[in-house]
Amino acid sequence: MTVVDQVVARPLSLAMKEGSQAEHTAAENSGFMSELLGGRVNEQGYADYLLRLRAVYEALETTGRELAGNAAVAAVLDPALERLAAIETDLDHWVGNGPRTVDSPAAMAYRERILASASDPALFLAHHYTRYLGDLSGGQAIGRILERTFGLDGVGVSFYAFPEIPKPKPYKDDYRAALDTIGDQIGEAGKARVVDEVKVTFGLNQRLFEELSANLASYRR
Ligand code: HEM
Repeated sequence: MTVVDQVVARPLSLAMKEGSQAEHTAAENSGFMSELLGGRVNEQGYADYLLRLRAVYEALETTGRELAGNAAVAAVLDPALERLAAIETDLDHWVGNGPRTVDSPAAMAYRERILASASDPALFLAHHYTRYLGDLSGGQAIGRILERTFGLDGVGVSFYAFPEIPKPKPYKDDYRAALDTIGDQIGEAGKARVVDEVKVTFGLNQRLFEELSANLASYRR
C-alpha cells in the first residue's frame, strides 16, 4: 500500500455512506417522498409505490438466495431482513384482490440491475445495503408517519417492522463491520466498484420517485 492509499483508504461502509450522501439528500427531497411524508399522498399513491417495491424486493431476495454460497454475500444475508412477505401482507390492505404487478419502466430497470448482479456478487452488496440499511434507518421514521397519516395501527405497514431486529442501531453497526471486513478483502478497486454501484442504485430509486412524482396530481388527498 502506498502512502497515498493509506491516506485515502476508508472502511467500505464509510465509503458507501459518504459516496452516496448527495444522492441520499436528493432522494429525501424528491417530490413524491416529501409529499408522502407531508401526508399529502392518498392510498392509491402509496399502493403504487409499494407495488414498485414489490418488484424490487422480489429481485433482491431471489438474487440473494442465488448468491447465498458466496462468502461476502453470506456475511450480510439475513432472513430477518427479508421484506417480500411483509410487502405482500401490506398489499392485502392497500390493494386487496387487485393486481400486484405494475407497469413501471423504473421498477423494471431497477429489477434488471439487481438481477444482473447475480454474476457479480460485490455489486449485489451495493443493492443489499442501499435498501435494507435505508429501511432500518429513515424507513423507520417513514413507517411512523404513514401510520399517523392513514391511522393504521400497524396494518399495512409491516414493511417497516423488523420484529426480529428490535434494535436497529447495533444491528447496523454489525452490518457495517461485516462490510468493512469484505472491503479489506476486495481492496481499493473493489471498494470503488461497490461505491459506484451504490450511486447507481440511488439513481434507480430516484427514477422510481420521479415516476411517482409525475402522478402527484392524481394522488392528492
Ligand atoms: C424521506 C426519505 C428518507 C429519509 C427521511 C431518510 C433518512 C435517513 C436517516 C436519518 C439516516 C441515518 C440513520 C443513521 O445514522 O443510522 C438514513 C440512512 C440511510 N438511508 Fe435514508 N432516508 C430517506 C430515504 C432513503 C432512500 C430513498 C434510500 C435508498 C433507497 C435511503 C437509503 C439509506 C441508507 C442506505 C442509509 C444508511 C447510511 C449508512 O449509515 O451507511 N434513504 N436515512
